[in-house]
Amino acid sequence: MADNKNLQSVLTEKRLFAPQPEFVARARLDPERLQALHAAAARDHVGFWADLGRKELSWHTPFGKALDDSKAPNYQWFGDGKLNASANCLDRHLGAKGDKIAIRFEGEPGDRKNYTYKELHAEVCRVANALKSFGVKKGDRVVIYMPMVPEAVMAMQACARIGAIHSIVFGGFSSSSLKDRIEDAGAKVLITADGGHRAGHIVELKKAADEALSQGCKTIEKVLVLKRTRHEVAFDVKRDVWWHDVVGQQKPSCDPEWVDAEHPLFLLYTSGSTGKPKGIQHSTGGYLLGAMTSCQWVFDLRDDDVFWCTADVGWITGHSYVCYGPLANGATILMYEGAPTVPDAGRFWKIAQDHAVTIFYTAPTAIRALMKLGDDWPKKYDLSKLRLLGSVGEPINPEAWMWYHTVIGKERLPIVDTWWQTETGSIMISPIPGAVPTKPGSCTKPLPGIAVEVVDEAGEILRDKDAGGYLVVTKPWPSMLRTIWGDNERYLKTYWSQFHNKYYVAGDSTHRDEDGYYWILGRIDDVLNVSGHRLGTMEIESALVSHPKVAEAAVVGRPHEVKGESVFAFVICRGERPHGAEAEKLAKELREHVGREIGALAKPDDIRFADNLPKTRSGKIMRRLLRSIAKGEEITQDVSTLENPAIVAQLAGKA
Ligand code: PRX
Repeated sequence: MADNKNLQSVLTEKRLFAPQPEFVARARLDPERLQALHAAAARDHVGFWADLGRKELSWHTPFGKALDDSKAPNYQWFGDGKLNASANCLDRHLGAKGDKIAIRFEGEPGDRKNYTYKELHAEVCRVANALKSFGVKKGDRVVIYMPMVPEAVMAMQACARIGAIHSIVFGGFSSSSLKDRIEDAGAKVLITADGGHRAGHIVELKKAADEALSQGCKTIEKVLVLKRTRHEVAFDVKRDVWWHDVVGQQKPSCDPEWVDAEHPLFLLYTSGSTGKPKGIQHSTGGYLLGAMTSCQWVFDLRDDDVFWCTADVGWITGHSYVCYGPLANGATILMYEGAPTVPDAGRFWKIAQDHAVTIFYTAPTAIRALMKLGDDWPKKYDLSKLRLLGSVGEPINPEAWMWYHTVIGKERLPIVDTWWQTETGSIMISPIPGAVPTKPGSCTKPLPGIAVEVVDEAGEILRDKDAGGYLVVTKPWPSMLRTIWGDNERYLKTYWSQFHNKYYVAGDSTHRDEDGYYWILGRIDDVLNVSGHRLGTMEIESALVSHPKVAEAAVVGRPHEVKGESVFAFVICRGERPHGAEAEKLAKELREHVGREIGALAKPDDIRFADNLPKTRSGKIMRRLLRSIAKGEEITQDVSTLENPAIVAQLAGKA
């Protein structure tokens, strides 16, 4: 099940980088303190999290029982406590940190704006009051489809403040994906913008929202529209409300709604092995605790930091490390709206310089893309304020790691390669920068209070340090997903049933080396990781098959220098197989079609037409064979069990 390329680098990579003494001297966690945390968690797992829950979060009603496992694996944390996530992120900083900058913002066109904690609090209260004026109540769902601007964070915080459940749909998703998510969540209100700036273009968010709503979404009563790009958009005066018209008029105060710790804070849809994305449901108390403590441990977050996580709020990374984790810690975050290469390849480094960024957290795909553009770009800028670098979302290849280390980190800065998932809510495996030596390509070891193991096919825990198999989590943790919205059966089946509810099955395969370091090898299910974005092969296949000319499709991932993986589709047409210019034309049409059905991020890089798919006599598509073909490998696999062995040459583009 392991990806050979990743496994190779695991087996040959022996370099070890110890934390620099200057960093250790000032670090929140040095080796001794980290050891003490691990020891406390090992002594009493639940007590460890209970102590942190009491210490770190601000409770309206303190909890009594920390973990309720009576309905396992639907675990509940801090169940009888009451709190509010927005009060934890904003109100409690108003005294000592009221005038501290909470958000530094830079738009792609270059516009800048800062918000102090006091200002952010007032804006969030106004948005919360606006939502209330639309009739939004505790437990109602609000879908957010916005660019990467401070108002997106305000919208999230405003929902949290009144106990509404937000569900963000990444702005790169199409109207059709937006519609599916709105309908699955049964959302009452949609918050969007006229558009956003991305790569020199305008992302037509309002247009896509209008399309989605015209196709269904009957539960939507109001659409709150932020004016961002100021270009002309359609406006339905009965349904749509401009942000500046309604929010500005509201009172800048709004009492937080105290909710149970288990009250859902948000839903976030993510891809799995089936065609339909699943709404991952997170809690208020446990989620916030995970986001908060991981910020302290992994990012060594301090009061004078400027923390820049480049992830969009449409992804879990943007939830935990743009919005909730850093703000709960009273930190200053930087938000940037646009692409890394606009107006030129130095943009990220210029932003880091201009805003005196100290912590920079991004995805390997961005690191690889920036690496390809050459060392001269980062060298033009003063990056001396940087003190910590992070990576997330996919395995980072040692070559990109070393570039990050030498060119950006000047061989001085720690790199935290953080493994986690939408489902885990917060970082699970990562170096602690002042305590754990790093190896390029390894996310090193689990955080305190996170019980990770490797199991074999039969679900047996492999006790040797040096082991390979399925990555599982053996004990519940506070920020774990609670269920899949509206489909608890699917929750149980996807994450728990494989090993009889004993472990949370992450869906990744891993190798653990003789030092106990983890190396993530990739997904074991039919999930692709394209530029750090999770896409289900089935989703893309269904999108292709929904085109009138397509009879059947099979999608696999192909290794890609920058994106990590790219989408490779094998397509069987209704009627004749197209050739030459006709094939090119149809491939273009299909790419656009997938863009419309899911979003541009899912468009196949390669489309190959064939008369048949390689199937076993029992009708199963041989995906392993398709993956080899997509990579352009010589086919050495046994194809004698194929229904039609001659098809292999055609699929390989040779016939
Ligand atoms: O395969 C793992 C990969 O991304 C998957 C989770 O994707 P998503 O839910 O979109 O969350 C991404 C951001 C947390 C995982 O199952 N992944 C994530 N981080 C890493 C990683 N693979 C290797 N190394 C990582 N640091």
